[in-house]
Amino acid sequence: VQDEHVAFIKDLAKSIEVDFWSPESAEVVTVGTDVDIRVPAIYLDMLYTLLQQSDMEHSVLIEDLQAAVDGQADLKPTPRAHSYTKRSFSHNFFPDWTVTSSSCLMTKQVIGNTYEGRAMTVLKIGKASSSTKPAIFMDCGIHAREWISPAFCQWFVKEALSTYGTDSQMTSLLDQMDVYVLPVFNIDGYDFTHKSNRMWRKTRSRRSGSSCIGADPNRNFDAGWCSMGASSNPCSDTFCGYTPESEIEVKNVADFIRRNKSTIKAYLTIHSYSQLLLFPYSYTYDLAADHNELMKVAEGASSALRSLYGTRYTSGPGATTIYPAAGGSDDWAYDLGVKYSYTFELRDTGRYGFLLPESQIKPTCEETMLAVKYIAAYVQKNL
Ligand code: ARG
Ligand code: ZN
Repeated sequence: VQDEHVAFIKDLAKSIEVDFWSPESAEVVTVGTDVDIRVPAIYLDMLYTLLQQSDMEHSVLIEDLQAAVDGQADLKPTPRAHSYTKRSFSHNFFPDWTVTSSSCLMTKQVIGNTYEGRAMTVLKIGKASSSTKPAIFMDCGIHAREWISPAFCQWFVKEALSTYGTDSQMTSLLDQMDVYVLPVFNIDGYDFTHKSNRMWRKTRSRRSGSSCIGADPNRNFDAGWCSMGASSNPCSDTFCGYTPESEIEVKNVADFIRRNKSTIKAYLTIHSYSQLLLFPYSYTYDLAADHNELMKVAEGASSALRSLYGTRYTSGPGATTIYPAAGGSDDWAYDLGVKYSYTFELRDTGRYGFLLPESQIKPTCEETMLAVKYIAAYVQKNL
């Protein structure tokens, strides 16, 4: 967008219900950004006219979102008389084999409950050892609607367990280090996207005094909290929460990382979409003390990723690569002392956005695996 278009978009967001897909809110829209939004069907004609008048370049990515969501539903009616249950890849997270057949490589630990009372389980993957090993922490599903993210954590666990002993890098990694995986950070929100609203982003916490539900977990960490790129309005999709770590899921993860601070050498958090590999800072334009090294590792990881299917990623600090946004987990972990702190934004760049088709799940996981393994190998070499 150009300068007059920025004002147009901000005004639009004030007058009608606009769901920002990329970037996450109207406030962070600036000259030069591509903006992906969702608007209710009733405004379509009006918006079309306004866009034409504004002379802004535009195109329709998804004509009928409801139809697209229905087309990806877990329960699909068949043309035949009987309907059948189709288990999508993102379901049935940890079938028994992960626990039974690989119990010597993996242990589970509950780090607390979500707002709605679901247990948050961290998987520790690595060769058992009597001494404490250095570790990598990875979480998926901070934002509820970014379904490719939990799918990647599931893929990672399966790959780690099934290639240990045959893949030399994985074997060496898990011999020397542990990988903590939190498969779904925001379980309540994720469940809500399956049952009620596919486009939900936040947690599901409630407070008396507001009828709006949830806060953005990636604005709720104690890192320049709510200073920029976040909203103090509980109804906003980027609401920073009432206080840092007001969201119990954020507190549980922060407590776990603080408790294991001396062993955790890298923090990876998986989001979608935009094809980015971001690192601190996002709450300030200042460069991180380790900027050059973080950039070098990010570029190595991006080219490893690209080598498989040609998928292009952009790397850089959050604030300058996309927009400043405070309260993120990556900045918080970095300031705590976890040097290799990265946010992945997986496929795509907006064609399907959060509704990445099933056919792209496997290739996305495969290519992302290469980037994660690249970072892990680097961390391992530099312990
Ligand atoms: N799209 C992600 C978000 O808005 C980017 C996170 C980058 N890191 C950050 N601390 N803002 O949450
Ligand atoms: Zn996200």
